[in-house]
Amino acid sequence: MTHFPSHFYFGSSTSAHQVEGGNMNDWTRWEQQQASKLAREAHRSTNYGQGPTPRWDEVKTEARQAENYRSGQAVDHYSRYREDLALARQIGLNAFRFSIEWSRVEPRRGQYDEAAIRHYAEMAATCHKYGQEPFVTLWHFTLPVWAAEAGGWESAEVVERFVAFAEVMGQGLRPHVRYWATLNEPEVYAGQAYLAGVWPPGYRSPTRFSRARRALMRAHRGAYQKLKSVEPTFQVGFCTNQTVFVASPAVLRPVANWLAHLANDYFPARLAGQADWIGLQYYFRRSVGWSSSLPKSDLGWDLYPEGHAILLRRLARFGKPLFVTESGLADARDRYRSWYIEASLASIKQALADGVDCRGYFHWSLLDNFEWHEGFWPRFGLVRVDHATLERELRPSAYHYGELVQRCRSEQSVTTDHDSVATASFKR
Ligand code: BGC
Repeated sequence: MTHFPSHFYFGSSTSAHQVEGGNMNDWTRWEQQQASKLAREAHRSTNYGQGPTPRWDEVKTEARQAENYRSGQAVDHYSRYREDLALARQIGLNAFRFSIEWSRVEPRRGQYDEAAIRHYAEMAATCHKYGQEPFVTLWHFTLPVWAAEAGGWESAEVVERFVAFAEVMGQGLRPHVRYWATLNEPEVYAGQAYLAGVWPPGYRSPTRFSRARRALMRAHRGAYQKLKSVEPTFQVGFCTNQTVFVASPAVLRPVANWLAHLANDYFPARLAGQADWIGLQYYFRRSVGWSSSLPKSDLGWDLYPEGHAILLRRLARFGKPLFVTESGLADARDRYRSWYIEASLASIKQALADGVDCRGYFHWSLLDNFEWHEGFWPRFGLVRVDHATLERELRPSAYHYGELVQRCRSEQSVTTDHDSVATASFKR
């Protein structure tokens, strides 16, 4: 029977703008402009085309309030990160993924804020103190206002500034951080921001979409090289969103394969050559033809944990170590989360048994947070956060995750030599 390799990371994942609070970036501006409209049109939200939320009656009060769509204090993770890392430690996690808010570090073009850099360095150091390997993402969907005004990801200058920012962070966090992700889900961002127009800068333009995708690729490559020049032992990757497509009847399979290719392959095929690892982020299955009935998250997404193995096998063809850097569900009642985590880990084990080199699983998310244009009502956290008082409480599923991690670790004690060889190159 396959076990998780001895250095497998069991972690949780967050992103700056969704949890920190007190940010002023292009998203903050967008929220100011869009909140009332989003509240008015809440019932029309289609959740990536998957239809309205199945729990509309329960969430409508929250979803109809403009406040829901303003990140504001978020969950104040910027000042409470120690408490949050302590909660993750309580359930035995050994890795934590967070992102750097570029607008804090470089609030004005070319002017870096030393206190912000120190903050993130301290955060990374605290991760180690709390037994968690930090995985740091440089860009998770937000831009400083000056960068957005300079043309965002359509501007060559912004790409250059991003590479310079990568260097600054590489130098500042070097003693504490080994694992870096340049970009988070460039495919989702490009689609939402330049085709669907639901994220800033809110365009619906195939030309701009192509331009932004090309710029994001240059941003990754530039940041990759820069980080490696700061410290060759840095392990630098990127995080990609992948979707499982199933066809029914089988005659539609070529269509499903083509859709999977369109949705999943663009960035990995172009970036894997300059990456030390790839992060898989997986949330839902989509049906081509007849849809089968699967349990649904509060956002109406089809929950299919078995998809991890399918997508890990698919990404394995790029020949890089893989991490599941995001996987999770909106589930305020905590009805499916325990099952989903357990089945996801079982699916990852299957991929491992097939020889796929997967080295970690990060649940999205540690905390209830600000879910972009859906706002605060979808609850993704292992930790429930009361948005009024900011009190935190581990959900039952978080304890279940902790028990699963314990179980996996006790199985690991019978690790084979093969595992040790496979992970040796990644050890400090
Ligand atoms: C993003 C997260 C988001 C999560 C759930 C991913 O697309 O990286 O920021 O909260 O999915 O929608």
